[in-house]
Amino acid sequence: MRKNIVAGNWKMNKTLQEGIELAKELNQILSTETPHCDVIICTPFIHLASVTPLVDAAKIGVGAENCADKESGAYTGEVSAAMVKSTGAQYVILGHSERRAYYHETIETLAEKVKLALANGLKVIFCIGEVLEEREANRQNEVVAAQLASVFSLTAQDFANIILAYEPVWAIGTGKTATPEQAQEMHAYIRSLIAKNYGNEVAEDTSILYGGSCKPSNAKELFANPDVDGGLIGGAALKAADFKGIIDAFN
Ligand code: PGA
Repeated sequence: MRKNIVAGNWKMNKTLQEGIELAKELNQILSTETPHCDVIICTPFIHLASVTPLVDAAKIGVGAENCADKESGAYTGEVSAAMVKSTGAQYVILGHSERRAYYHETIETLAEKVKLALANGLKVIFCIGEVLEEREANRQNEVVAAQLASVFSLTAQDFANIILAYEPVWAIGTGKTATPEQAQEMHAYIRSLIAKNYGNEVAEDTSILYGGSCKPSNAKELFANPDVDGGLIGGAALKAADFKGIIDAFN
């Protein structure tokens, strides 16, 4: 059975001290109850080693927001998958639309990153999604299908460590959420592509998260769809109460 997951993506927000405070606060809020979904927080690299020992690993998983497409060596400024793993982190977000757009990450680069992340024992939250012009031209399905090439050459065994996140770019940080119908339609399509590539059983076991202006007020309606298995949360993950409000959508 696939898991329901609420994952936070802090992006380039919070100093180390602020990040520690946020992680502590979330840990405190969740200490008295068992969430009805897996909870993950993905933080900037420098927060990872401080945040992982602060949270109850049984309730909160920790992840990075990126990792290098090279194993190690002379790549000034890069952070490898092995380094991420050595902090105690278990997850890494790859393929976020901001990385694709601003740092020119390609389908091929991302395939390398995914391979290294998995080889180092990380689970990958792999993001896909179309931009507004592609949606307006009704090209969202072909765009998403092409982006999935970065993970569809994995073995089924490796693919079991992939969590997908459908994030329509026009909904990220814009306050404009996909309707529950738009989300369900795309998630069902993505699941059909997984089934075609890996078979029904793998498709049924893969968690597909929705991302893009997800908040406490719309999370329940989005997550109620049969193919929406949770959310990847940006802005609303920066306040413990808001993030908890989204986790509670599974109660
Ligand atoms: P948002 O970001 O929730 O702020 O729209 C989501 C994401 O980019 O992962």
